[in-house]
Amino acid sequence: MSLSVKHLLGIRDLERQDIELVFQTADQFKEVLQRPIKKVPTLRDTTIVNLFFENSTRTRISFELAEKRLSADVVNFSASGSSVSKGETLIDTVNNILSMKVDMVVMRHSASGAPHFLSQHINVPIVNAGDGINEHPTQALLDAFSIREKLGSIQGKKVAICGDIMHSRVALSNIYCLKKLGAEVTVVGPPTLIPKHMEAALGVNVTYNIREALAWADVANVLRIQLERQNTPLFSSLREYSLAYGVNRRLLDSLQKDIVIMHPGPINRGVELSSDVADSGQSIILNQVENGVAVRMAVLYLLAGHQQLAN
Ligand code: CP
Repeated sequence: MSLSVKHLLGIRDLERQDIELVFQTADQFKEVLQRPIKKVPTLRDTTIVNLFFENSTRTRISFELAEKRLSADVVNFSASGSSVSKGETLIDTVNNILSMKVDMVVMRHSASGAPHFLSQHINVPIVNAGDGINEHPTQALLDAFSIREKLGSIQGKKVAICGDIMHSRVALSNIYCLKKLGAEVTVVGPPTLIPKHMEAALGVNVTYNIREALAWADVANVLRIQLERQNTPLFSSLREYSLAYGVNRRLLDSLQKDIVIMHPGPINRGVELSSDVADSGQSIILNQVENGVAVRMAVLYLLAGHQQLAN
């Protein structure tokens, strides 16, 4: 068994079997990460460059840790402080780095499609670490892996994705991933933050009522409002948004059932999610972050041409 793709550009390109293979491999790396020595020699002699053209905390650290736990050599690149500011193109930047014998590229870019474009010009595997408003495939894999860990399976589970659906690469990758694994998905948010025709295009339910969505759900994945991607205001104020769509203790208590709370980070506390919920026993937010390392180890390992680890 090996992945059906050479690059991980998006969940849209994956088969269900690819996702299950990533999960089975991540299960084994998660066990490695519980050991006193959390390192395996698997990618010794492999050099990976992390190209971050956009800010990141979790994804960047998680990839770097995953690479180091696999014994890869790691090079980190940030657009700020690089020759990108002198006008160098994406292809020139990457070809210069690859000429130094780099074997794999992890890339985050603010332009949707940037890693797809790059994949047509270079020969080494590329992992998309988030491209504009398109996809964030490893986030969706770690989110689904975390739901599977918490609830036992994904098949038949009801997941509400809440908030700024329009600008969220996490939402799109989660929808593809959860639907391929047999979950039911509802998106909820203000009408101005949900693209038209989502039901028909992606097979999800749409509602504008947060209480209705949470009352239906087993899991709520709450998203940040991405003000940096809005050219014109799409709601009147953060306070109004929080009152209408914020997930807080009072709202959850009114459901009279326990649902699992997720958030990809970074959280705007008090806007889309209250602190008492984010830090409660219902939240698996830090489990998501922990699982990100094992899931990214699995992705890198499989893309490097390895098959599933032997038990
Ligand atoms: N979840 C996520 O992508 O977070 P960062 O932007 O901090 O990487």
